[in-house]
Amino acid sequence: MTSLTQTDNWQQLQSLAQGLNGQHMRDWFKQDDTRAQRYTSQACGIELDYSKNLINDEILAALYGLAEARQVSAKRDAMFAGDIINHTEGRAVLHTALRNFSGQPVLVDGQDVMPEVLATQDKIKAFVERIHSGSHKGYTGKAIKHIVSIGIGGSFLGPKIMFEALKPYWYQDIKLHFVANVDGCHIQDVLAGLDHEDTLIVMSSKSFTTQETLQNTLTAKAWFLQAGGTQQDIAKHFICVSSNIKAAVDFGMDEDNIFPMWDWVGGRYSLWSAIGLPIALGLGYENYRQLLEGAYEMDRHFVEAPAEQNLPMLMGLLGIWYTNFFAAQSHVLLPYYHYLRGFPAYVQQLDMESNGKSVAGDAEQVDYATGPVIWGSEGTNGQHSFHQLIHQGQVLIPADFMLPLNVPNQDDTHHAMLASNCFGQTQALMQGKTYDEAYAELEGKGLSEEKRHALATHKTMPGNKPSNTLLFSQLDPKTLGSLVALYEHKVFVQGAIWGVNSFDQWGVELGKVLGNNILAKLTDRDAALDFDASTNALISRFRAANQ
Ligand code: F6P
Repeated sequence: MTSLTQTDNWQQLQSLAQGLNGQHMRDWFKQDDTRAQRYTSQACGIELDYSKNLINDEILAALYGLAEARQVSAKRDAMFAGDIINHTEGRAVLHTALRNFSGQPVLVDGQDVMPEVLATQDKIKAFVERIHSGSHKGYTGKAIKHIVSIGIGGSFLGPKIMFEALKPYWYQDIKLHFVANVDGCHIQDVLAGLDHEDTLIVMSSKSFTTQETLQNTLTAKAWFLQAGGTQQDIAKHFICVSSNIKAAVDFGMDEDNIFPMWDWVGGRYSLWSAIGLPIALGLGYENYRQLLEGAYEMDRHFVEAPAEQNLPMLMGLLGIWYTNFFAAQSHVLLPYYHYLRGFPAYVQQLDMESNGKSVAGDAEQVDYATGPVIWGSEGTNGQHSFHQLIHQGQVLIPADFMLPLNVPNQDDTHHAMLASNCFGQTQALMQGKTYDEAYAELEGKGLSEEKRHALATHKTMPGNKPSNTLLFSQLDPKTLGSLVALYEHKVFVQGAIWGVNSFDQWGVELGKVLGNNILAKLTDRDAALDFDASTNALISRFRAANQ
């Protein structure tokens, strides 16, 4: 098969990228007052302004051509249809079935998965109602007031970050706490302030083999028993979400307290499954359902909208454009909304665990860049630290700005300032500041010619830095669902073009295995050390410090 980089589409994009040399977005905006309007698209309450990108109609057409040649639509349809597209693990990829409100069946191996999905949603709904109404009580008869959600990776980031993002919708009588890290400081801090009699532990682990989650749950169980609970009271205070029912039962979970999920739900796509139970507990079932409905709407948009209006397609292709034709190695996410501050970390797992790959198809080592580094944090904080590098550094960092146009209970002055900073940054990145502008600003400052020239050189900003701006009227549960699904499908589009399997994570698996081998040597102090010299020395130092 012809390597991707040798295809006509790729070569065409390469020469289009070279052809942009010397051109500036600033001039394009001056020459074409329809640019902003032509390069804005909207769906599911999200408006994407992608006009501040290094693109024109010819480039976009070439990118659509690449998507077609790489059969992105056919691959998308195969995912939605339940085909075994995660070929290295022999699994279907069906997070979309978890928010399928079409009433249509979704088949895996000829079996409709929807009855089980709907039954689990009913179970979640009933459980949330029992907790909120106080009919589910702790073993001493107290209503549940605190939920401790234990999980890591997708079994943590989804629930925590979506719950955090929806603060205006929180159910006030319940407090949610999250524990992920195996670092004992984390669970210790969380449990320290809690009363075991009104606390419910939700353990979330798809595999039920994850060291961090198992250990944190054991610690929580020991805390519960030490505080006065007995083994038979556990069922009232410990529930779990897992696809490994047998392991959960062997661990001691009451079978009625297990919320199932399935192997066709990837960890980083699992918030739509019962892994989202803490969100439902923290927001109420109706708000949780809205989240799923928002994702479903974005699914329909992804399947139905033509490429030119298709938000995931546009964002995916723009990412390919910079990663592969401008050597951009990272992509920054800048939510201008405090409650959405965790979103970059969420997309970090979603994107980097999905497309941080270097083998395409069956066994082809790729010779092109794949998934970029995803990073970022909330605006305006970043403006006073790392934005400097985006403006004037030597690396190209495409950015996604995000802003809700309305925020419940927000002071207007603050919100206008927030918005002005967001828009101002996109403008500064695009237009920059020319040497002549910087030089003119220094007029009458009493500088020598030499000093004025030097300072103007430092103050010159190249501009021409690409960014997308995503606006939504407000970040309600439905819009958040759409936003998350938008990024999921963006990642899908890129994985499809690169030809990688976006749904396995063998690199992560290796770390788990090696970590367990080392743990055995840390606990058995006399065991011979037979690793490399550096690892042996690190273990010895740990042993010496923990005699
Ligand atoms: O770290 C890898 C990973 O498999 C993630 O994909 C997943 O979200 C996380 O571990 C947690 O896994 P589990 O839900 O099986 O405990």
